[in-house]
Amino acid sequence: MPSHNVLCIGSGGREHALVAAIVASEGLEVCYAAPGNPGMAALDKVQCVDLEPANHQDVIAFCREHDVTLVVIGPEQPLVDGLVDTLREHEIPAFGPSAYAAQLEGSKAFAKEFMAEFGIPTAASELFTLSTDADALAIKEWIEHQANLPIVLKADGLAAGKGVFVCETLKDVTAALEQCLASESLREASTQLVVEEFMEGEEASVFVITDGYSSKILGVAQDHKRIYDGDKGPNTGGMGAYSPAPVVTDALLNQIQQTIIELTITGLQVKDAPYTGILYVGLMMTEAGPKVVEYNCRFGDPECQCILPCIQNDFIKLCETTVQQELDEVEVTHSGESTCCVVLAAEGYPSSYPKGMLIRGLDQVETVRNESNEPAMVFHAGTATDEQGRVVTKGGRVLTLVGRGATLQEAVTHAYKAVDVIDFEHKTYRKDIAQKGLYRLQWLNRLQEK
Ligand code: AMP
Ligand code: GLY
Repeated sequence: MPSHNVLCIGSGGREHALVAAIVASEGLEVCYAAPGNPGMAALDKVQCVDLEPANHQDVIAFCREHDVTLVVIGPEQPLVDGLVDTLREHEIPAFGPSAYAAQLEGSKAFAKEFMAEFGIPTAASELFTLSTDADALAIKEWIEHQANLPIVLKADGLAAGKGVFVCETLKDVTAALEQCLASESLREASTQLVVEEFMEGEEASVFVITDGYSSKILGVAQDHKRIYDGDKGPNTGGMGAYSPAPVVTDALLNQIQQTIIELTITGLQVKDAPYTGILYVGLMMTEAGPKVVEYNCRFGDPECQCILPCIQNDFIKLCETTVQQELDEVEVTHSGESTCCVVLAAEGYPSSYPKGMLIRGLDQVETVRNESNEPAMVFHAGTATDEQGRVVTKGGRVLTLVGRGATLQEAVTHAYKAVDVIDFEHKTYRKDIAQKGLYRLQWLNRLQEK
């Protein structure tokens, strides 16, 4: 059995789930997590290391020094920055797309042009430049005369989830344009602005693993982006998710595979940039069929925490097979369970929030069992250890709790039971994760009974 030293880049709940899957793989010597978090540090064979992924030469030197045999990259920024390209140039196996392919997430203008070229269904859009007040005025006038409201404005570049504005009125359009010009971080991302038709429907995400030629669906999930119950309040990184999402029926998934996933993968082959890694396709289930809302070039957070625990393959082997472009030889096996994950946040998130609150009950999560006697799972995100070695809060999204079950209802009950054993001051979370899925299942059951 070959031995592996794996480097996993990232520090969130998604990366904790990735590291847990790496640790569960055969033949692991050490998993280095850069920078990791206390949840990862507590795992057997994991070492958290201080390594800046933006400094590619440091990453290469680290990989050489520690005989790293595989690099797994969690977040989008290092992918968009071309870390995979640099690693490949140095013959270090890396799981993730090249900078070119990562533009599917890194540039909305690139993604829209790509979809238009390959006939992939998405919202109609126009591209504008936005650097001055005069540009803003021209965009507003174009919308007033040529478009229908609501309308969606999207900064071209990465904007940490803050670059999309769904505008109901012209006043909202003005406010969004002003924000793009005024905010230092957004200004750069929105020098190109995509103005997009509003799509009506329910959202879902499909997660695909691909070596650029062969692709396998890992799972379908629904995220909860808004901070409050009932999808109210500002957008966040994601407050919870569940999988599978019944809004995506088998027939729809088939359609998505043919009209979206296969075309995306062959489109990148045509561009001479076959995609390696996880492709996350955000979709709107419209009356005219599924359409792409966005591509992401990595796993979702918290969707990863819902999907990865159900994948029964040896994860290191799965990544290696993908990097070696031999994915067609592998069967991806899913446990068939439903999962639900609930994010515990610090009150105030996504704006300012307090830090350093003591987290109690982490050791109790394992004792929360579902009907099959499986433990609930906890993945750390914004946590730290204090001087006494206790785990305290450090970020807005603090922990993800994951429940599993033979049914979605069982998974939801399991997850919320785990939520109850964790306590910290200013703990907040959504109480309605997966309700949409449960309603839909009830409705489908009623239809079947008739
Ligand atoms: P994105 O970052 O492109 O996923 O956009 C963030 C969120 O904005 C999506 O999850 C949707 O809820 C919403 N959104 C983006 N584009 C559209 C669209 N064309 N129509 C309706 N809602 C959209
Ligand atoms: N949960 C949404 C994302 O990871 O982009």
